[in-house]
Amino acid sequence: MKLYELTDEERINYLLDNNYINNEQADLLKSRTPLPEDLADSLSENQVGMFGLPYGFATDFTVNGKDYLVPMSIEEPSVIAAASNGAKRIRNSGGFTVSVSDHIVYGQIVLESVTDDTLDLLKQRHDDIVKFANDAHPSLFKRGGGVRSLEFHNYNDMMELEIGVDTVDAMGANIVNTILEKTSKEVAAITGCDVLCSILSNSGVGQLVTAQADVDFDQLSTKMMAGSEVAKRIVQLTKFAQVSVKRAVTHNKGIMNGVDAVVLATGNDFRAQEAAAQAFASQTGKYQPLSNWKIVDGRLHGELIMPVEIGSVGGAISSMPMAQLSLAIMKISDSRELRAVIGSVGLANNLSALRALVTTGIQAGHMSLQSKSLAVTAGAIGIEIELVAAVLNKQRDYSLDNAKKVLKELRNK
Ligand code: MEV
Repeated sequence: MKLYELTDEERINYLLDNNYINNEQADLLKSRTPLPEDLADSLSENQVGMFGLPYGFATDFTVNGKDYLVPMSIEEPSVIAAASNGAKRIRNSGGFTVSVSDHIVYGQIVLESVTDDTLDLLKQRHDDIVKFANDAHPSLFKRGGGVRSLEFHNYNDMMELEIGVDTVDAMGANIVNTILEKTSKEVAAITGCDVLCSILSNSGVGQLVTAQADVDFDQLSTKMMAGSEVAKRIVQLTKFAQVSVKRAVTHNKGIMNGVDAVVLATGNDFRAQEAAAQAFASQTGKYQPLSNWKIVDGRLHGELIMPVEIGSVGGAISSMPMAQLSLAIMKISDSRELRAVIGSVGLANNLSALRALVTTGIQAGHMSLQSKSLAVTAGAIGIEIELVAAVLNKQRDYSLDNAKKVLKELRNK
């Protein structure tokens, strides 16, 4: 069965019939009201409506031996198709292998009016500060999380206490900020210094994911090009991204197409995710592609290392019904698993983009998928959308003027 040939209602029934979602969740999708009014009002300010984004799912993911459908929310045509396409080539070659670090969120307490004694005072009370920080969030400690590191860094007349907290399955921003603000009072009392601020760091370096895949050459071939040649060209294009920052940014944009779409679909903080990923790409001082592709033992080997700064519980994730639905579709048990899936999606989108770029170019596939949205922009409604899109794909003329002309001709018939 080709899922993309079904109607949206049939796809919802597919999810229901295959136990990805329950009846209530199927009704939620069919109702087309993803967020209850009062919840929307409580999530942000001056609310006057809800902003819609298409919500769909990518297929064919096998991550660490488990199969997934992956929900994605995105306005760009071809991203979900690209994720599924890359995932299928990788599944046919054995699937993704992903390792995930512990979930450590770093926070900073910044001190001013530091004296010669401040560092010694802090070092003497190191264990007391750790205990105080753990006591500041007792429920986290009970769930197996808590403070994992405390370091002091001197910056001339300022000093930083850097606290690393295992926030278990929560993204951790609120948890860490609560711990920091409470702990900062104790630190001020110990040192007599002013606390300039206490806030988590969105660097994400404590939440790294390494997604890898070995792709068989025959999974890469096109009508016009052998798989081994496609593989070589993907390696070359990746090398180019390592020397050209302009290309590296676009290379990473292709990865973030997939990553951000899952981050959004699971109710996570996409700004935090973007900030962390882009900072990580610049960690050596020169902006780099987040993934690398090389040929190893006659296969194309891909590796993506990046922070995935998300949670699977807490905040909007727990309150937004669509976020819960997304976790249900993936049958996710904890944030480690979700991070592994998100890393895989980034690598899948990257593979699809690179394969298209070094063979046919992306416009052929991209524009044929964009033809429907072009038809809508031209004014097509209902059945007209498919009909206009089909003509545009046949003509391979994707200008708005042409779409309007085709629509006019269709209506005149
Ligand atoms: C388009 O959304 C993403 C690509 O530009 C990524 C890339 O160039 O690698 C196709």
